[in-house]
Amino acid sequence: MNNEDKHWKQDFPINRGEANQVSRRDFAKLLAVVSGGMVLGNGIIAAKAFFSDDEAIGEKQKICTKNDIPVGGTKSFVLKNDTVPYILIHTEEGEFYAYEQKCTHLSCAVYYKPGTMKIECPCHNGWFDVKTGEVLQGPPPRPLKKLVVTLQGDDIFVQHPKTENV
Ligand code: FES
Repeated sequence: MNNEDKHWKQDFPINRGEANQVSRRDFAKLLAVVSGGMVLGNGIIAAKAFFSDDEAIGEKQKICTKNDIPVGGTKSFVLKNDTVPYILIHTEEGEFYAYEQKCTHLSCAVYYKPGTMKIECPCHNGWFDVKTGEVLQGPPPRPLKKLVVTLQGDDIFVQHPKTENV
């Protein structure tokens, strides 16, 4: 052992036998710190999701203005960089809803039936609720895919929802 090694050993007096041992107490402390960190992280994520009222994700896209669709009328559109057909509906209650214009049964185009608050699929007499997209009647197995609609002044924007069929 040379002189430099001696200095190092004096500065850091570690017993090699003890250095390889981790006491139960130290291990328990480590587990508590790691578990606490995970609990805290999950809590922050859950709280963020709970308190966030933003139900939409992705790019908000302007479709038209309120005046472009008369009450009881509709407007077909596609989103940027997409080919999926959608339909924007202005109901008799003055609300706007947007759905994928494709029936969940065999993909026929669906249409709003003015005055009924229902969306119709003429292929096999399927019907959907205009407010929720839920199936009311017929063979469609799932609700229509819905977009989130927001109004800013007279402008109407749509976005994909955080989860499907919200
Ligand atoms: S395709 Fe719409 S009900 Fe069959």
